[in-house]
Amino acid sequence: MKFLMFDTHRFERQSFELANRDFGHDLHFVEPRLTEETAVLAKGFPAVCAFANDRLNRTTLEDLKNCGVELVALRSAGFNHVDLSAAKELGLRVVRVPEYSPYSVAEHATCLLLSLDRKVHRAYNRVREMNFSLDGLVGFDLHGKTVGVIGTGKIGRVFCQIMLGFGCQVVAYDLKKDADLEKKGVTYLELNNLFQTSDVISLHIPLNAETKHLVDAAAISQMKKGVVLINTGRGALIDTKALIQALKAEHLGGAGLDVYEEEEKIFFQDLSEHILQDDQLARLLTFPNVLITSHQGFLTREALANIAHTTLNNIADYEAGRPLVNEVAVT
Ligand code: NAI
Repeated sequence: MKFLMFDTHRFERQSFELANRDFGHDLHFVEPRLTEETAVLAKGFPAVCAFANDRLNRTTLEDLKNCGVELVALRSAGFNHVDLSAAKELGLRVVRVPEYSPYSVAEHATCLLLSLDRKVHRAYNRVREMNFSLDGLVGFDLHGKTVGVIGTGKIGRVFCQIMLGFGCQVVAYDLKKDADLEKKGVTYLELNNLFQTSDVISLHIPLNAETKHLVDAAAISQMKKGVVLINTGRGALIDTKALIQALKAEHLGGAGLDVYEEEEKIFFQDLSEHILQDDQLARLLTFPNVLITSHQGFLTREALANIAHTTLNNIADYEAGRPLVNEVAVT
């Protein structure tokens, strides 16, 4: 099937070209993000492929429809950036990649936690400057600490198991309990109890109206002083203003963020020759106990290969009139 991939980056193009040897789709790549301004590029393409920070609001979707698009294939698990009601009204089908490697994201969350705890990001810079002093680099043993995992779906459950492997007490909060995790030693708590007892908190729930700013000033005020907060979910799960206040007040021990509330126009791009206009992100970058990565939790070879394969398979299913097992629609 002929389709246009928006927001194409060098790191993913090869995996799509490789996977397409099994499918033979007519694949076209463009670099611009899919937004109201760029949707017109889709003219003549029955299918488009969009990324996590593309803007699939009503206007974009209407423009896609007018261009003749029938299928929007998301190459992400999250779909909070798509106006699904508008898609339904317009008769546009939307598919996604619900699972590609929960290990990639759970391991990145672990990486953020370990780096922050043992201050690897600071040690790396120091040693390069021939500063071999250890003052200010004291961390803590993860062994025996209480780790609170919010969301024990595909990624959260892998993160729970990694933390159990470190010898942590793992407590969790989710709308539904995972009996297998409970058998392995995970204890489900009410959210308030999790906030109050955890030394580390990691977020693995989707972003929606219910979960937006789940971590706000009131939530943070219940947390232990020195708690380390890890977010590889979505930026808006945390109220960034409240986060900055808590960091300034030294209530938080650290924050490891792979996602940021206002990342849409910033992440995935080289802005090193520009002046950063986002004052909140600029403030976050000044804290020695904040480690930010640019939404790279998914960035492993295995995950990229699976993303490409599932996306191309979703498109093949649509073309062949088969059921769309990975369709997302308003419920
Ligand atoms: P999943 O759907 O397997 O698990 C989500 C879990 O959250 C489910 O167990 C669900 O019951 C729970 N949940 C949903 N709403 C809730 C609420 N209001 N309160 C408590 N629990 C709730 O999703 P998966 O694959 O584990 O991914 C989680 C999130 O991670 C995604 O939604 C996405 O935003 C993010 N993600 C980030 C990536 C990155 O590169 N940083 C890559 C892939 C996903």
